[in-house]
Amino acid sequence: MENAKLILSGKEYELPMFSGTEDERAIDIRKLRDMTGAITYDPGYGNTGSCRSAITFIDGDKGILRYRGYPIEELAGSIRYSAAAYLMVYGRLPTEPEFLDWRKQLTLNSFVHASQVNFFDNFSALAHPMNILGSMISSMSAFYPHDAEDESDIDLHIQRLIGQVKTIAAFSYRKSVGLPYIYPRTDHSYAANFLRMMFATPAEEYVVPKVMENALDMLLILHMDHEQNCSTSTVRMVASSMSNIYASVSAGINALWGRLHGGANEAVLNMLKTIADDGGNVAKYVDLAKRKDNPFKLMGFGHRVYKNFDPRSKILKTAVDDVLNEMGIHDPLLDVAKSLEEVALKDDFFIARKLYPNVDFYSGILYRALGIPTEMFTVLFAIGRMPGWIAHWLEMRADPDLRIQRPRQIYIGEKMRHFEQMNLY
Ligand code: CMC
Repeated sequence: MENAKLILSGKEYELPMFSGTEDERAIDIRKLRDMTGAITYDPGYGNTGSCRSAITFIDGDKGILRYRGYPIEELAGSIRYSAAAYLMVYGRLPTEPEFLDWRKQLTLNSFVHASQVNFFDNFSALAHPMNILGSMISSMSAFYPHDAEDESDIDLHIQRLIGQVKTIAAFSYRKSVGLPYIYPRTDHSYAANFLRMMFATPAEEYVVPKVMENALDMLLILHMDHEQNCSTSTVRMVASSMSNIYASVSAGINALWGRLHGGANEAVLNMLKTIADDGGNVAKYVDLAKRKDNPFKLMGFGHRVYKNFDPRSKILKTAVDDVLNEMGIHDPLLDVAKSLEEVALKDDFFIARKLYPNVDFYSGILYRALGIPTEMFTVLFAIGRMPGWIAHWLEMRADPDLRIQRPRQIYIGEKMRHFEQMNLY
């Protein structure tokens, strides 16, 4: 491939280029500072490739998302979450016996350490469930201190993380509503177990409604990975210092919590409620989102990579209609969301900036139909994203180019100065 030419202070430099499987081109600047004394400036990393990855492919202009080569449209709604998780982590779909064994292992390793269960009693009643989830996942390595650093047991760590994330999520909900904890069963799918742990009562058999199980499977798969997004990059950043997998992934959970990232799904629902309470005047809120003197943004709109449409949002919009119809639910917030989308998509501000609904725009309405409380929405995102974080952690550790992540900066502070004699000692 051709080299890139850079002319700096009249001197010409050649920088090697390479491309990926899908012909994305990259300029290799690893020697740039040595050669020229200059560094690049790219706040938000919109033009920076931090790694080579074989996990997920996104073409933001064409609205393409593929996990390990498979289009998201073929995976979501066609396979179970645990099969997609296997694909994500190990790079290929499991055979049927592998799938059944993996599903069983995820259930057998989904029990939160008995001493750790006591933690739920000591969080403030006001604690956000994302806060509880991040803390509990972080503390997991303290409950397996002998092997958390032992990477020869990596499959066990993976099964614990994927298995327990849903248990922790469900237990934090049960604690918040004062209900006894329910444990998972090996004859249930991952999604069915989560719904059982959330909504069953020990007093009678709980039959998981198929429509809910299938919808949850699809939702979790849609959230499973999105290449170098904020939380995944955080997991990689932490992992690059050789932190263990629990420590790395819990950092990702905290990054996901922010309302510009995974926290947007909760913010969307709150925004839709506000608009509905305000008489459903969507135009007013579209106008507000355009004002430079107001921090309000249309939550669930816009994306760093997608500049045409977000394929996840397209799948979700159809699924919301289908699932709500099947469940016989009419949600007035869905009407608000649809008219908000319609008005925004015709607005010059949103057209010029290529702002479209993202994955968080319709997901909350579906979670709501499943009975998931609003403050749990981002927790559901984290459950879905867990296999993605793990896949990136594994890929990074095996990468021959791995170095501790350590960006540089352009210093803009004071030049050297000296203080006058003062009595500060
Ligand atoms: N409402 C109104 N204006 C917006 C919005 C929005 N939702 N998103 C971007 N803009 C404007 C922004 O003000 C800027 O305008 P201007 O060029 O006049 O300064 C322009 O569009 C470009 O935006 P940006 O902030 O440079 O875009 P970004 O790539 O840095 O940020 C984003 C992407 C997703 C953080 C942003 O679009 C946003 O804040 N959206 C709302 C929050 C949200 O829905 N987040 C979920 C993202 S998808 C799933 C996930 O990651 O969890």
